[in-house]
Amino acid sequence: MDFFATAAKGTEPAVRDELREHRFRGVRADRGGVHFQGAIDEGFRACLELRTASRVLLEIGAFEARGGDALYEGVRALDWTIALSPKRTLAVRASCRSSALTHSQFIAQKTKDAIVDQLRDRQGARPSVDLEDPDVVVSVHLVKDAATIYLDLAGEPLHRRGYRAQAGEAPIKESLAAAMLRLGGWDRERPLVDPMCGSGTIAIEAALWARGVAPGLSRARFGFERWASHDDAAAARMVELRDRARARVRRDGPRVMASDVDPRAVAATLANARNAGVTVETSVRPLRALAPVAPPAHIVTNPPYGERLPADPALLRDLGATFLGLHGHRVTMLAGSPALLHAVPCRSEKELAVWNGAIECRLATFEIP
Ligand SMILES: C[S@@+](CC[C@H](N)C(=O)[O-])C[C@H]1O[C@@H](n2cnc3c(N)ncnc32)[C@H](O)[C@@H]1O
Repeated sequence: MDFFATAAKGTEPAVRDELREHRFRGVRADRGGVHFQGAIDEGFRACLELRTASRVLLEIGAFEARGGDALYEGVRALDWTIALSPKRTLAVRASCRSSALTHSQFIAQKTKDAIVDQLRDRQGARPSVDLEDPDVVVSVHLVKDAATIYLDLAGEPLHRRGYRAQAGEAPIKESLAAAMLRLGGWDRERPLVDPMCGSGTIAIEAALWARGVAPGLSRARFGFERWASHDDAAAARMVELRDRARARVRRDGPRVMASDVDPRAVAATLANARNAGVTVETSVRPLRALAPVAPPAHIVTNPPYGERLPADPALLRDLGATFLGLHGHRVTMLAGSPALLHAVPCRSEKELAVWNGAIECRLATFEIP
């Protein structure tokens, strides 16, 4: 089977490396995600293990669709009984680019019509639509009139780990925090410090990764566990995958420290870390009073910036002075504005373009001499 693990733009190499580390086959990075192959259980395993991906999609068909009728016929010719039955609910998501069909809502509607008509023909009744909490999520991508139809194995996006009850002001997605750690080259041994921690996402993801806690272990149920084909045998294989993942969890990891000038942010970090079952050392302090730690540590952070939080001159001065004082440490910063990068008066070792939602950022890593 062909799978596609979706990723925030710019983080595809992180998803690719994760898939390779977990020994998935046919791994190939593409725009917006990474392809891999395997039996259906490999899709289950990807949902359980991947920290940096947003969704895991199973490709169930591809065909040319220059118009609504071709789309309808193509979708209707696929076998939907793998996931759907009249008792299950569905939602269809669609996107299109450079195609004759230009309205994603129309594409979603046509796809839905074809699916429910097939089910009504084959099983005498049709599934209903539920946009809030569907059992089955279908994804349609139309690029240059080529339609690719997917089933979404994850259901709710994978970044929603469930530990972040308190989100703070401008939280980043858990999957992006995990990608920052990986792309920034954290070795999972050095102490990890986030001096502008907000709700603690980076610190918590670091602690989970270092201890080998599979991100999907906190999930009660993935999308595919609500599919028609998910029988007792498949459920038993999921129990085994979860047991194996649990057995890999290590008790200890390196020190993980998080601080913020805002006491509410630190309280949120503490509460979220508790939810995630990890230990994060927290303190309320401004960046310029960063607690000393013996080098080499890795500082990974995303400071406030333009569109989401105002970047002020004092913060930029503090950033430059503090980072320059971190002799022998490694620093990785997700910079949402060029001013943040320019504030650090040394050359970055590595700089990547990474998107935080719609905002193009730079993920810069410095070795401070
Ligand atoms: C973009 S948010 C970080 C979000 C975080 N990564 C998360 O996922 O929740 C930036 C944080 O920097 C903190 N901050 C701003 N100026 C600071 C300073 N001078 N010292 C320490 N923290 C500061 C803010 O209180 C805010 O929580």
